[in-house]
Amino acid sequence: MVKRLRIVSPKRNKRLQTGWEGFFPYYAGYSELFARELLQSAKLPRSAVVLDPWNGSGTTTYTATSLGLNSIGIDLNPVMIIVARARLLPPSEADHLRPLAATILSHTRSAPPALQPDDALLGWFDPATAAFVRGIEQNIRRSLIGSMTKSPDGVHLDRISGTAATLYVALFAACRRLVAPFRSSNPTWLRAPKADEARISATQATIARGFGGNVRGMTAALAEKREADLRLKKVPHSGDCRVSLSDTVSMDLAANSVDFVLTSPPYCTRIDYTAATRIELAVLAPLLKTTERALGRQMIGSTQVPGVEIEVDEGWGETCLSFLDALKSHPSKASGGYYYRTHLDYFDKMSRSMKRLAFGLKPGGRGVLVVQDSYYKDIHNDLPKIIAEIGAYHGLTLGQSKAFHLRSMSDINPGRRSYVRPSGATESVLCFTK
Ligand SMILES: C[S@@+](CC[C@H](N)C(=O)[O-])C[C@H]1O[C@@H](n2cnc3c(N)ncnc32)[C@H](O)[C@@H]1O
Repeated sequence: MVKRLRIVSPKRNKRLQTGWEGFFPYYAGYSELFARELLQSAKLPRSAVVLDPWNGSGTTTYTATSLGLNSIGIDLNPVMIIVARARLLPPSEADHLRPLAATILSHTRSAPPALQPDDALLGWFDPATAAFVRGIEQNIRRSLIGSMTKSPDGVHLDRISGTAATLYVALFAACRRLVAPFRSSNPTWLRAPKADEARISATQATIARGFGGNVRGMTAALAEKREADLRLKKVPHSGDCRVSLSDTVSMDLAANSVDFVLTSPPYCTRIDYTAATRIELAVLAPLLKTTERALGRQMIGSTQVPGVEIEVDEGWGETCLSFLDALKSHPSKASGGYYYRTHLDYFDKMSRSMKRLAFGLKPGGRGVLVVQDSYYKDIHNDLPKIIAEIGAYHGLTLGQSKAFHLRSMSDINPGRRSYVRPSGATESVLCFTK
């Protein structure tokens, strides 16, 4: 008899985003409460492995670890690897953060680095501002990234310490606040300044206050968490967690190695997951082996036209094929060209990823996917149904499922205003078994 899973609304509630969790807001995922209720109701044994192949800010890995379960988080965006690692910092480390940040700031003040003329931060900040931010970043790197993390071809981001990751997150947040004038109405989108626009100028004191203030806030939130654990007499047993920088289209999951998958795949709503973290990618640029553009192309849901021709695969299922037909023949501009090709890219990458996910799942193992539907102009993109059909193609059977209505849709799809369509979106929680 398969255990029935407890499914509460995945929606992130603003009021619940306080304390430690509040420092990792990034783009839409699901709440910790949703993940906790679900994982607890699955009654997994201690030895179980939980996987999130699209781990984002790491809600799954954080929750699984705090429940004492082993977990693996995968993401293609290096920023999200750092964010997910920071989130795992044990509360016992709270006391180290502030002295470390003070040392880093004092080293930076006494010797700000000579900036490379092509430093990615110069895309946003004037030279003095960029140099001070780079100085903080360099000092985090020098003092906290040990030899274990380095290889001849660079830094293994997935091995950096929780402390280093936390200080990076504090610096990300400080930079994010500085570039606020470039935020657009879409909360996930940060536009890059145009060549003739004034770049941001901030004093050393302002930058230091931003960074230091974030570290103080994170320390306080961690300390609060430690106190709460003590009050509840929670034994701090935490599971092993590996966060790994990898592409689900080609990920190398061992066969039958995963007990439970909990994830929300990239949406099919033209959210550019790389553009959402542009400033963080600029901070991390010296550690990266790729460019923002190359990363953007590789993402599922990429807004760039794929470099190769993609064939429709019958295995994507009836719902997907008729959606693609309607999209291709839609009379509006670029529907049969750009939009058709980027959607083909999405379904192709999703299907390949689902195949690998199913391969990694143990027989009898379960996979829970949180998926949102959307509209392309007036055509309904019933993504939950499409994912269910792609899952079936790769040997996953849909069991329990629950739909929640959302008042607003997180998309920047064309035609939002000019076409008649229902308001909001449906977020579905799909539970598969292999
Ligand atoms: C909807 S978000 C996941 C949100 C997550 N549940 C959370 O709580 O933050 C989807 C994630 O998929 C990642 N992604 C997109 N394409 C990918 C790929 N090919 N391989 C691995 N991760 C990818 C994005 O970087 C993004 O972090």
